Amino acid sequence: MSVMTSNEIRQKYLQFFKEKGHAVIPSASLVPENDPSVLFTTAGMHPLVPYLLGEKHPAGARLCDVQKCIRTGDIDEVGDYCHHTFFEMLGNWSLGEYFKKEAIEFSFEFLTSPKWLGLDKNRLAVSVFEGDSDAPFDDEAFETWKSLGIPEKRIAKLPKKNNWWGPAGETGPCGPDTEMFYWVGEPDKVPESFNDDNSLWLEIWNDVFMQYNKTALGKFEQLSQKNVDTGMGLERTLAVVNGLDDNYRTELFWPIIEKIEKLSGQTYRGDTLVKAMRIIADHLKAATFILGDEKGIAPSNTGQGYVLRRLIRRAVRYGKQLGMKSFTKDIAEVVIEMFGDVYPELSKNKNFVFDNLSQEEEKFEKTLENGLKEFEKGTSPFVLFTTYGFPLEMTKELAKEKGVEIDEKKFFEDMEKHQELSRTSSAGMFKGGLSDAGEENKKLHTATHLLRRALEEILQTEITQKGSNITAERLRFDFNFGRKMTDEEKKKVEDLVNEKISLKLPVHKIIMNKEEAEKTGAAHIFGDKYGDEVSIYYIGDSLETAHSKEFCGGPHVDNIGTLGHFRITKEEAVSAGVRRIKAVLE
Ligand code: ALA
Repeated sequence: MSVMTSNEIRQKYLQFFKEKGHAVIPSASLVPENDPSVLFTTAGMHPLVPYLLGEKHPAGARLCDVQKCIRTGDIDEVGDYCHHTFFEMLGNWSLGEYFKKEAIEFSFEFLTSPKWLGLDKNRLAVSVFEGDSDAPFDDEAFETWKSLGIPEKRIAKLPKKNNWWGPAGETGPCGPDTEMFYWVGEPDKVPESFNDDNSLWLEIWNDVFMQYNKTALGKFEQLSQKNVDTGMGLERTLAVVNGLDDNYRTELFWPIIEKIEKLSGQTYRGDTLVKAMRIIADHLKAATFILGDEKGIAPSNTGQGYVLRRLIRRAVRYGKQLGMKSFTKDIAEVVIEMFGDVYPELSKNKNFVFDNLSQEEEKFEKTLENGLKEFEKGTSPFVLFTTYGFPLEMTKELAKEKGVEIDEKKFFEDMEKHQELSRTSSAGMFKGGLSDAGEENKKLHTATHLLRRALEEILQTEITQKGSNITAERLRFDFNFGRKMTDEEKKKVEDLVNEKISLKLPVHKIIMNKEEAEKTGAAHIFGDKYGDEVSIYYIGDSLETAHSKEFCGGPHVDNIGTLGHFRITKEEAVSAGVRRIKAVLE
């Protein structure tokens, strides 16, 4: 089989959908904007939630992209041949335009046409939603697949557990889906019928028909528009197209594995070694992408930073097993070399990536040393884990070496209690993401625009957003400014925002091409990726006379008169040259 590269697949995918009238949009950041319900972008649909719910997208109603994604849910599955923490998702969307028939026909054509991926249609099977009390059997999907020549025995009708996707949080857009599987076993031994339990039927693509909104009460309401949301993992697709049975042997991973082989002096062979090398490759690739993201996340004990810390530490631990030391930066170098062209932010943030990896690796070395001492003293595995960051697996290994018993059951009981506590403490967050946030979220989002503008006027300097996060109670805005604000300045900013609110100015949105939009002087994040068409939200009667204008995806309230009273609750430093304001509407 001729070799197809990852770049060819990315390009073919975007080209195919361009020919079908889709606009190519850039990958969004790995860290969702204004959506506190999830730590990372987990699917291509994620940054598009407002548009799936009805907001107009500046690039139109047919979109496609290649989105950077992080999924930490199945971190324990990492180590097999096809699950990854970081992956690239190829996706296409119809926002209230074409629906099931066209979506399925597009998928089929792209997969099987010799002009595109040229996969063997006799090795294809699919599943469709069988129906339940929330939504009926998807006969349209079923019939469409049949009309394309997929035998009935290879069209499985499955329940919600299999054939329903979303919402991404607890509420939001979702719907029945149809999944496509490719037979990765012996080509001449394709079973007559599809069997969900046979892992040689590998899922490669998912077309979701998002026509429902799951409400906070668990009801499925019809959305005003019927959308299509699809997702195809680049790593799997590349392996399948090239007839490889291990994603790590594709060019999206192999140079990393080779580097690990070189540094450890070991070969990618044998279950234990292969698993360790896969975990190191997966975790450090993910860590490089998180550190190299536009948002500049660093290792910490909360949120995204905590996930990052865990990934690095787990990689270091497996690296130790292979006898490697101070190696994370070397791996990141390879990752950046591999992906720097497609994701220029990686090259741009190279030093940040290297510095943080090296520092974290060093810190963890110390943790391990301390943990070892504590272990010798007989400290419990739970305290070792929570206080000294000493992983249970490590404690277990040590215990085995020393011939002592540890109480694993108690460890898990204590962990459960611990997690209950941390869940309660994050209960102030929205359960469902932007979709659930509704009016309150919109208000705080609009207030964030007013705040940025007021800061500019009072501090007399251009203010650029460095980060934004909105929860049920407050907004949080990070911006460029070199010193602590005085009480007087804070008061002036509050007064200015409240004065504008009292003027009851309208909020408008306008869509323009990027060059034109830049000329309007609307605030935007320099160096951030925007599509060719962008939307500007402005506050005031016209764009020329607007009080505030910003590149922004929305959503916002229609009139700032509804915001209520604005109050700053905190002003603090985030890092050199970056301040953070938290504020509420009362
Ligand atoms: N959002 C769908 C998925 O992630 C396409 O599978």
